[in-house]
Amino acid sequence: MICRKFIGFMFALSVVVIFSANVARAQSKTPPIIPAPISSNATTGTVKVSDGAVISFPNNDPDAQFAAEFLTAVVQRTRGIKLMLRPESGQAPNPALIVFRRNPAEHPMRRDSYDLQISDEGIQITAADRGGLLYGAVTLWGLLTADGARNGEAELNCGTISDAPELPWRGIMLDSARHMQSVEFIRQLIDWMALHKLNILHWHLTDDQGWRLEIKQYPKLTEIGAWRKLPSITGTTTRYGGYYTQGQVRGLVAYAAQRNITIVPEIEMPGHASAALAAYPQFGSSDVHLATPASEYGIFPTLYNVNEETLTFLENILTEVMQLFPGTYIHVGGDEAKKDQWKASPQIQAQMKALGIKDEDQLQSYFIKRIDAFLTAHGRRTLGWDEILEGGLASNATVMSWRGMQGGIAAAKQGHDAVLTPTRPLYFNYRQSDAADEAPGRFALNTLSDVYHFNTAPTELTAEERKHILGIQANLWTEYVITEDRVQWMLFPRMAALAEAAWLPPEKRNWNDFLARLVVQKKRYEALNIHDAPSAFRVRSTEHLNSGQNRVSVELHNQTGFGKIRYTVDGSAVTASSPIYEKPFDLSLPSRLRAATFHDGEIPGSAFDRELDAVSVRQRFSQDLNLCVNDPSIQMEPDPPVPGGPVMLANYQNPCWIYATADLTGIKGIAAQVDSLPYVFHDRRSRPPMPPQISAKSGELQVRLDTCSGAVIATLPLEPAVGHRNVTWLHTALPPLQGTHDLCLKFATSQTDPLWVINLVQLEPAQQ
Ligand code: ACM
Repeated sequence: MICRKFIGFMFALSVVVIFSANVARAQSKTPPIIPAPISSNATTGTVKVSDGAVISFPNNDPDAQFAAEFLTAVVQRTRGIKLMLRPESGQAPNPALIVFRRNPAEHPMRRDSYDLQISDEGIQITAADRGGLLYGAVTLWGLLTADGARNGEAELNCGTISDAPELPWRGIMLDSARHMQSVEFIRQLIDWMALHKLNILHWHLTDDQGWRLEIKQYPKLTEIGAWRKLPSITGTTTRYGGYYTQGQVRGLVAYAAQRNITIVPEIEMPGHASAALAAYPQFGSSDVHLATPASEYGIFPTLYNVNEETLTFLENILTEVMQLFPGTYIHVGGDEAKKDQWKASPQIQAQMKALGIKDEDQLQSYFIKRIDAFLTAHGRRTLGWDEILEGGLASNATVMSWRGMQGGIAAAKQGHDAVLTPTRPLYFNYRQSDAADEAPGRFALNTLSDVYHFNTAPTELTAEERKHILGIQANLWTEYVITEDRVQWMLFPRMAALAEAAWLPPEKRNWNDFLARLVVQKKRYEALNIHDAPSAFRVRSTEHLNSGQNRVSVELHNQTGFGKIRYTVDGSAVTASSPIYEKPFDLSLPSRLRAATFHDGEIPGSAFDRELDAVSVRQRFSQDLNLCVNDPSIQMEPDPPVPGGPVMLANYQNPCWIYATADLTGIKGIAAQVDSLPYVFHDRRSRPPMPPQISAKSGELQVRLDTCSGAVIATLPLEPAVGHRNVTWLHTALPPLQGTHDLCLKFATSQTDPLWVINLVQLEPAQQ
């Protein structure tokens, strides 16, 4: 251990000197961890940490003990170093290398803060609370893994970090109602969140499609409400669902609490109630009874009643919820409650009159205020989506702003607390890039950069009002995010950007520096077996055909513009000495193009490798085509997914795509790889009719010239693909045409269900 004397003053983040594992080649000036610490400095010298290094923690301090154990486990897993745990006895023969200390005084304004000092005296983590002790451990783990090595001694530079989060609410919302995740997976997610210093897991447990929480007093909520019919393309249905037992929930809540994470349960009301009301129709607002939870997605009219019996039912449920979730906040939804059933119910209209309530918005406000009074009487706080502002906000309620920032701003101006989770950019069920290999999600892009640059301090608010902004949260809705692998793809690495946006004020964030640290973070993800999305660094190519010649002009880029792109065109592997891409280049066909983003001689993510030939350069995946109408579009896959199967982008109300500027000279045919999916969209009414012209029974894919009302130049009957649970190639000849045209590709079917989608289209040249 050789550290020079500590120089003794702090630098602001922007002028920090390098403080990292010696071996880390961080050009980044910040310690190579995510989120970056608010302040740090470095001295010279290093401390080595190797197998057998001792960690001590104060006797009888379970938080410090847990932080030390957490550090030991994650370091062993990701760095292969075995640390030895030792409770402090006061007369230890040798001082421990790593020491956890509890600050005697709580620092109420700096919750979750910690100091980490690396010096001649060893490594010390000092904090006043559980979060600070844990986050000190997480920072040390970051430094010990900063070189990306998976084993061997780590060498740390000497210096100090003094750190605290900007925002107290740093959250992720997981929707387990539309698709469930295993308890084991949620446990992993809690660990991953802790490693990003996030502290709120908002757990969406009930919705139209499923009720996922065991409630002892009302067993039918899970006997009936947890199981929906999953439609298939063959017309059969399977039973899909499940629920979390109270024992499992208690286990997860305790597991999260040790990791400084509060689980905030969400029990939706008065809308998104179809699953509950399938189980207990007597608490609904309509005589129309549902046999099962909804199999479709969208906004349903099904609302709870507002009578005393229903409020008692909900209070009894919330009583069990409060027993399971000891945190302050209980989320009661409040969003997207279409008031049709309340308007149509004579009993509810009579109740409104008796209460002197003038409209249904006010009635929802009355409903939420009753629930808020109940929760408040039990020492809890109500949290709801920003619709709870409509008709008047309950006195003790906190608003989760999702339809933009306005709900959060309005709440803060009224003196209420708010959490910012606007759809743009904090809905992680939106795609993170428009690449063809992106996972399913909503059409609009919430890129890594969008998340990173999210403004957590709205200028509409005064400094005083801003104190009501508790923090930020990313929401992952799972209608189209079916598997745990897909959940990871959507969460990572955007979770890293979210963590830094929550931890640092906007003026302290540095995008390029973050990207350099993300290169290291991706190695940690690999060591933790997190399947993150490659979107930020993966090379993409755009090829432009040179008309009449067997050549293309190739343009390479990656989403963030980070690093250098190197490439080869002779089939050889791309290395750190391959040519650097500077500008578009011509390539004769066929050629094998390989490319990768490089940073400091390494490839952060996977390489690009593509055979370019006369057919492949004329291929377009659905994502490479233009949608005829963008909204409402989803990138989707079959449910359950076909392993290795397609992910397709379609407007479900208007399945129509444009192959832009297709060079049709010398093209003899067109082939399309198509698939059909059960129509699971509740708002089917607004779909325009598209009757087929020649293939009345199964429908057809029409190819129209220049515009979608242009002449039909080819028709591909869907017959061969009907009922296939995977893609099918369709093929037809094209008439001889010259020059460049847009092609409109449009499904024409007499039925809305199934939804037909294109996966891939290719134009076939006469000579290849
Ligand atoms: C929401 O996305 N309906 C809160």
